Amino acid sequence: MVEPRVYQALNQPVVSHLDPYFFQVVEDCRELLRQYFATENAFTLAMSGTGSAGMQTAVANFVEPGAKFLVLANGYFADRMSEMGRRQGARVSRLERPWGQGFDQAEVCEVIRRERPAVVGFVQAETSTGVYQKSEFICQAAHEVGALVIADCVTSLGAMPVEVDANGIDIAYSCTQKGLSCPPGLAPVTVSPRAMEWLKARQTTPADWYLDLKLLADYYEGAHRYHHTAPISLFYALREGLVAIAEEGFDARLARHKRAHLAFVAGIEAMGLSMLVEEGKRIWNLNTVRVPPGVDELAVRKRLLVASDIEILGGFGPLAGQIFRIGIMGPLAKEESVTLLLGALEQALREEGYQVPRSGVEAAKEVFDSQPATV
Ligand SMILES: Cc1ncc(COP(=O)(O)O)c(C=O)c1O
Repeated sequence: MVEPRVYQALNQPVVSHLDPYFFQVVEDCRELLRQYFATENAFTLAMSGTGSAGMQTAVANFVEPGAKFLVLANGYFADRMSEMGRRQGARVSRLERPWGQGFDQAEVCEVIRRERPAVVGFVQAETSTGVYQKSEFICQAAHEVGALVIADCVTSLGAMPVEVDANGIDIAYSCTQKGLSCPPGLAPVTVSPRAMEWLKARQTTPADWYLDLKLLADYYEGAHRYHHTAPISLFYALREGLVAIAEEGFDARLARHKRAHLAFVAGIEAMGLSMLVEEGKRIWNLNTVRVPPGVDELAVRKRLLVASDIEILGGFGPLAGQIFRIGIMGPLAKEESVTLLLGALEQALREEGYQVPRSGVEAAKEVFDSQPATV
């Protein structure tokens, strides 16, 4: 859900893409993005394009043709990253795990030491499965062999800790339409000084002209040399969304998402359902729930949409028909929304023949009552 005040920002008069006012808006975005990525990286920017443009920026600039690119593959978006690497002409190798599982330290370190890739890519919050991947040991192992690390933070930024500097991530990218509660269309990207040094020394030209960070640095920094006509209104929207987060308090926002997640899980378990991902590895704002045996997943989702105007998603790939994917983020990560959703889901499941043992709404309310509202 887009914050209502962000819609108002979209309505503001459009200035030119070279107007000093626009560059002020960009600077404000960069400053706040640094805070939420938890980084000191000077090179922090919003690319014109959706989250996939962030992914492509990372791959096009930092994965050279012929370079070994190790992707930790446990879901749909890691597959997309592999495919982008393949199209850039990299030698892609993959450490695979079944969808719904995360990576452990021992296996990651062993593969990185053996393969000695130039770049390691992984997805911090895999939206197709609901797995949140711990990042620090991946970055440590990669740095030991001199590799750069790309992290997909599309679903984590603004709702879960990304911790770019503490984890040692070199290139992180995200989107605006998930944890930041803005419309889609920009892709925040942050690059470590180490990765910037590598980029400056890169001898080959990235195949993508549009996402070439060296060219974009000339536009957004220093000379403000025209590169492309930036989507001005989307930057207004992003700034407003980022300011709204600052006003709430970033830590308070994360705590709100965690609390809504815990309450939701309590509700789900009370209803006799189970989460796909084991505790401690779950994304707070993207919850994956196993469809109970004998229940038609699509029929439940249709009922929710028609009867309650609530849209949830299903699984795909190996998880097609097996899970519900439920986003609880931004303005919706609060008690009224979680209990509304659980009540509607309970109703839809009953209508599809599933016997609900206990009310999920009551169980969720107990968590909201017992958990502090802030950290
Ligand atoms: C983890 C992850 N990476 C990348 C993307 C691609 O982002 P977009 O659809 O904004 O291009 C998504 C979109 O849902 C995502 O969830």
